[in-house]
Amino acid sequence: MAAAPARLRFFLLLVALLPSLAAAQSRPFGGAPPGYARYVADAAGEEQEEYDYIVVGGGAAGCPLAATLAGPGGGRVLLLERGGAPSEFPALATAGGFVRTLALADPSPESDAPAQAFSSEDGVANVRARVLGGGTAINAGFYSRAHPSWFQGQGEGAEVTDWDMRLVNASYEWVEQELAFQPEVHGWQAAVRAALLEANVTPWNGFTVEHVTGTKIGATTFDASGRRHSAADLLAFARPGRLHVAIRATVTRIIINPIDPAARRGRSRPAVAAVGVVYQDRLLQQHHALLRPGGEVILSAGALGSPQLLLLSGIGPASDLTSLGIPNSADAPDVGKHMFDNPRNGISIIPSVPIDHSLIQVVGIPSANGTASYLEAASYIVPLAPMLRPAGPFISPSSPLYVTMATIMEKVPGPLSEGSLWLSSPNPLETPAVRFNYFSRPEDLAQCVVGVRRVAQVLRSRTMDIFRSTVGSSSQGRRGPVRRDFRIVGATLPVDWSTNNTAVADFCRRTVTTLWHYHGGCVVGKVVDRDFRVIGTRALRVVDGSTFSVTPGTNPQATVMMMGRYVGQKMVGERHSRRQANISS
Ligand SMILES: Cc1cc2nc3c(=O)[nH]c(=O)nc-3n(C[C@H](O)[C@H](O)[C@H](O)COP(=O)(O)OP(=O)(O)OC[C@H]3O[C@@H](n4cnc5c(N)ncnc54)[C@H](O)[C@@H]3O)c2cc1C
Ligand SMILES: *[C@@H]1O[C@H](CO)[C@@H](O)[C@H](O)[C@H]1NC(C)=O
Ligand SMILES: *[C@@H]1O[C@H](CO)[C@@H](O)[C@H](O)[C@H]1NC(C)=O
Ligand SMILES: *[C@@H]1O[C@H](CO)[C@@H](O)[C@H](O)[C@H]1NC(C)=O
Repeated sequence: MAAAPARLRFFLLLVALLPSLAAAQSRPFGGAPPGYARYVADAAGEEQEEYDYIVVGGGAAGCPLAATLAGPGGGRVLLLERGGAPSEFPALATAGGFVRTLALADPSPESDAPAQAFSSEDGVANVRARVLGGGTAINAGFYSRAHPSWFQGQGEGAEVTDWDMRLVNASYEWVEQELAFQPEVHGWQAAVRAALLEANVTPWNGFTVEHVTGTKIGATTFDASGRRHSAADLLAFARPGRLHVAIRATVTRIIINPIDPAARRGRSRPAVAAVGVVYQDRLLQQHHALLRPGGEVILSAGALGSPQLLLLSGIGPASDLTSLGIPNSADAPDVGKHMFDNPRNGISIIPSVPIDHSLIQVVGIPSANGTASYLEAASYIVPLAPMLRPAGPFISPSSPLYVTMATIMEKVPGPLSEGSLWLSSPNPLETPAVRFNYFSRPEDLAQCVVGVRRVAQVLRSRTMDIFRSTVGSSSQGRRGPVRRDFRIVGATLPVDWSTNNTAVADFCRRTVTTLWHYHGGCVVGKVVDRDFRVIGTRALRVVDGSTFSVTPGTNPQATVMMMGRYVGQKMVGERHSRRQANISS
């Protein structure tokens, strides 16, 4: 066994070298800076200037929106992002860095980690993006469109946004050209595909970005060489000279002014208007950015950031704001209400045979209309010892210090259970408090029970047998039967899972976690109108996942990015019409 210490030493050396290896990882794609680099500057050097559009939050929606507003027919655009650029964080570039990024997520407002940890009042650990590209720079990369019916259901009843489906399709295509790729499916993902089909999640739809009933391979934002593409890459479509991106720029409030009554034209029109924003750089210096006449502020700060900024700016439930000492600019009782997070439950195993690292590529959609839980799977290479941090892709699955862990999960689409978000303090740097009330509606719990049973059926399929380990070969000195079973990590299913609803419902409640698809807080029909304008305030819109009361498809990023492009195109169209009207009058 003399070889063992040497091998151990080699791996310890490898671990010690991780930071430098990680640094090397950031440069394998040549010296060329990313396409967005030409637009990006640190907020600390910013002067006060005027813009046609100020976009707050450079995430999944904000980047394509800013690029489009600064594209052909657009105007002068400022994009403000509180985090740094993705190129500063080598772990973001590959799927192998996913777990590491989440493990290093830091809750503190001072940290510059690209993922910010938070815990909802439900007690469920969660993360939010803090980097240019937003969620798309740190997420699992799975890319899949929404079902056409989603575009009818959005916003409830009469308030339905009337999406122009031709423009929706063109906007998806615009995003996909740049950052959707067909993944190579093998290992755990290939096994899950076969097992889903064995468990009757059919038909087999092959590779498609469409949201269709059955089992499919979706697209990914990791390209053939394994490199992540993110919404930040869409910024390259802006016209040079029109777009300015300030990073490490935390917007602390929107500047709201009363509208001169003479200019209001009708008493039902908003009494206040956004005229600019205040933001803070990393040295805690305050900066102002102002709108040109006819300009607009657009919040794309995500489901936590956008309602938070409205509240900080005095747009929200009057009584809550008064108690925090924030002057109320416009009473908007639904800001921060209708917050949703899709509950995720699943089973994780340590497979008997080593498998590759794989993020979501294959999904099971038992019914495309959202009446059954969606099934997804992933496998990770994680450190055995907690003091070792999750490593990048350069750790082999057979390393003695690391173990591969594979998981099959289900997420409840919908959900009907809702909660709310509120300011725990008037400090804009703190994550607001949020409660999702997972499973407060029995319908969600019933759906979880059905979904968890499907996960169990997938695991029980013959395809999955190769991942079972040999257990219980002897008992009480006598040779017992050799049994093969899964080495489960964390919670195990109740033995009577196939018959006992109560037991499975307990499992759902006990093991609930997040797939990070939280949404709501500024929903259509309550806080914003069908054009995503904030009701009661002029020159202010919200364009991001906070406007959703139902999250689109199996996974939202495709539709959030599409939405940024879509609303950008609409706004450029409005700008054009306004100019035509000015010319003819
Ligand atoms: C770990 C993880 C894995 C995921 N996996 C997938 C997946 O595989 N597939 C998928 O489709 N979806 C996935 N998602 C979900 C998806 O990434 C999000 O739904 C999507 O990014 C939401 O887009 P958004 O524009 O609403 O918000 P975000 O993308 O979060 O963008 C908001 C941006 O605003 C910035 N911001 C917030 N407040 C301020 C402020 N005051 N001033 C300035 N900037 C501010 C934030 O830093 C952030 O960059 C995942 C999410 C996470 C976190
Ligand atoms: C949009 O795309 C979907 C799916 O690809 C298709 O079914 C639909 O007909 C398209 N709609 C329009 C208006 O082009
Ligand atoms: C949803 O789809 C399933 C199967 O795909 C079907 O049985 C069910 O009737 C549908 N429900 C609605 C409300 O359309
Ligand atoms: C079902 O599970 C619950 C909770 O574990 C348990 O209390 C109950 O006795 C079980 N029911 C049956 C019929 O076994």
